[in-house]
Amino acid sequence: MKITVVGAGAVGATTADAIARKELCEELVLLDIKEGLAEGKAMDMMQTATLAGFDTKIVGSSSDYQKTKGSDVVVITSGLPRKPGMTREELIGTNANIVKGVTQSILEHSPDAIIIVVSNPMDTMTYLTMTTSGVAKNKIIGMGGILDSARFKYYLSQALGCSARDLNATVIGGHGDTTMIPLIRYATWNSAPVTTFLSEEQQKQIVSDTMVGGATLTKLIGTSAWYAPGATTAALVESIVRDEKRLFPCSVSLNGEYGQNDICLGVPVVIGKGGWEKIVDYKLNEEEQSLFSKSADAVRNMNDVLKTL
Ligand code: 2OP
Repeated sequence: MKITVVGAGAVGATTADAIARKELCEELVLLDIKEGLAEGKAMDMMQTATLAGFDTKIVGSSSDYQKTKGSDVVVITSGLPRKPGMTREELIGTNANIVKGVTQSILEHSPDAIIIVVSNPMDTMTYLTMTTSGVAKNKIIGMGGILDSARFKYYLSQALGCSARDLNATVIGGHGDTTMIPLIRYATWNSAPVTTFLSEEQQKQIVSDTMVGGATLTKLIGTSAWYAPGATTAALVESIVRDEKRLFPCSVSLNGEYGQNDICLGVPVVIGKGGWEKIVDYKLNEEEQSLFSKSADAVRNMNDVLKTL
């Protein structure tokens, strides 16, 4: 098994580190355009191998795509991260060109790879990859919903005073401050609906904190977060390489599911060795379905910007 992570910034490097620690592959290539950055971070990670106990070989490279040849899974984190006060959507102009170029170079050497898109605005970057690469739709997965769900569980655990591990909660829709939909009606604490234990006011607060979860961190740190993005991307990669069939919300191409077409948007999907293998149809109520349609409209407007670049 060979995995490539493109972009050795904070998110890419943390993803690579988590993948190596889980020993998800024999070889892991970390690539960046900045001379020396990926080589240095790869060497630094390799020097943790005896302590962390992994044998994955991590190879760093400054844009030598030859080294990525024959990758089974490729994670794209390239592009600018957001700065405090910025939305993910404001990154489209710069990141669209970067993501398109990276995808082309990757496919020249790994035509069969499953591609995970992390770069923002993520749903639009996933759509761009899907519409320009010629890769089968099941092999293109946008990573956002798993991260937003992890943040949702964090806020729920704080309010309930419980272990986040006992929570099950899902965020669907777009990976944007106003487009994501934390499905609180479906969230459970060891099978008991969380709505039983939380007031309406608490529920509203948790939903709105989750929606701006990334922005809150960007404001505190000065750039976008990396520990949870790295951990959640590695969990997605793990479900692919170990064929775990985990059910994760991911941005995938919709063809009529959830009432949408010609768009990539976050829905619950089964993740296995074929990429995303099946969309699971949560029965949304009228209010949730209307939020989903609004989210789709906003993401579609963003996708239209691609035509003007
Ligand atoms: C985030 O929400 C990186 O978009 C990512 O932190």
